[in-house]
Amino acid sequence: MARVVTGIQPTGNIHIGNYIGAIRPAVNLQDSHECFLMIADLHGLNGGLEPEVLHQNILDIAKAYLACGLDPENVTLFRQSEVVEHAELSVMLAPSTSHGLLERAHAYKDAMAKGKPVNAGLFYYPVLMAADILLYKAESVPVGSDQQQHLEMTREIAERFNHTYGETFVLPQALLMGGDEHLLKGLDGRKMSKSYDNVIGIFDSPDEIRKQVAKIVTDSKLPEEPKDPDTDTIFSIYRHVALPAEVEDLAIRYRGGGIGYKEAKDLLAEALITFLVPIREKKQELDANEDAIHSILTRGAEKARVVASQTVKEVKQKTGLLP
Ligand code: TYM
Repeated sequence: MARVVTGIQPTGNIHIGNYIGAIRPAVNLQDSHECFLMIADLHGLNGGLEPEVLHQNILDIAKAYLACGLDPENVTLFRQSEVVEHAELSVMLAPSTSHGLLERAHAYKDAMAKGKPVNAGLFYYPVLMAADILLYKAESVPVGSDQQQHLEMTREIAERFNHTYGETFVLPQALLMGGDEHLLKGLDGRKMSKSYDNVIGIFDSPDEIRKQVAKIVTDSKLPEEPKDPDTDTIFSIYRHVALPAEVEDLAIRYRGGGIGYKEAKDLLAEALITFLVPIREKKQELDANEDAIHSILTRGAEKARVVASQTVKEVKQKTGLLP
């Protein structure tokens, strides 16, 4: 079975962009692929969150994966920090990573440009992420297109290592399934992102969903004017959560000029509520049984370590750390 690996950082409210870009692809692949799904909690340390908040965010990601339909018997769901090989391999990949590569990273460059404090964790992020992926020798990594650069860097690091020590790592490809341009838009029309505060959370209540949808930024076209579904934010979210016939119907009404943004927002809010209510209910069941989540994560880490420790052993042998 082909293998995939992906991860989510525990930095806050899990949103429908995360669902479309990373969780839904994994749900769809779980029967045909060997899936390694990670809570990237070591990466989460960079956010400087309060410890209790980080801990809760970690559990929420596990709940998100499970509530969205991943079967823990079928996939390997684990915390990065519980598989020590992630940290170990990242250190062993650092000598194959140039300083120039790290300086090109968008997240680092952005933080520098905005004069934000940059810690070594942020600078080193691409190396740890390369280790996350290369440990499992996965061919595909389901992500939104915002992670493309990290995938390119992972390939570059792997190529450099393979060139120095001989064929060791598989060069992974991003599996982009995130909708328009592989990135779901947020309420303000930019990429949906926790850091832009423009998200619809997958666990939001119906009232919260209605409130968030009301904030979507539109142009000032009147109801009777034709509208382009391909550029409109309301439609771009609707097409992921409504039934295909409903999506088709709304596209026709947009093009024909028969619908105002208020009505389109109401349709979107109701479609989101229908779509997210079962996920929210499953999450509430999981809230009442956190012990079960801890044991799923412990078992997942054990399963992940079987593969990860093999890779680390191979790397140690290739580099001369082991005979
Ligand atoms: P993170 O936590 O920012 O996001 C998790 C996943 O959600 C996707 N995503 C989106 N997809 C579509 N539209 C959006 N608006 C949107 N916003 C986020 C992201 O592309 C990602 O797939 N560096 C990673 C976490 C990570 C990882 C890994 C991923 C650590 N190690 C190894 C894959 C493999 C990150 O910060 O994702």
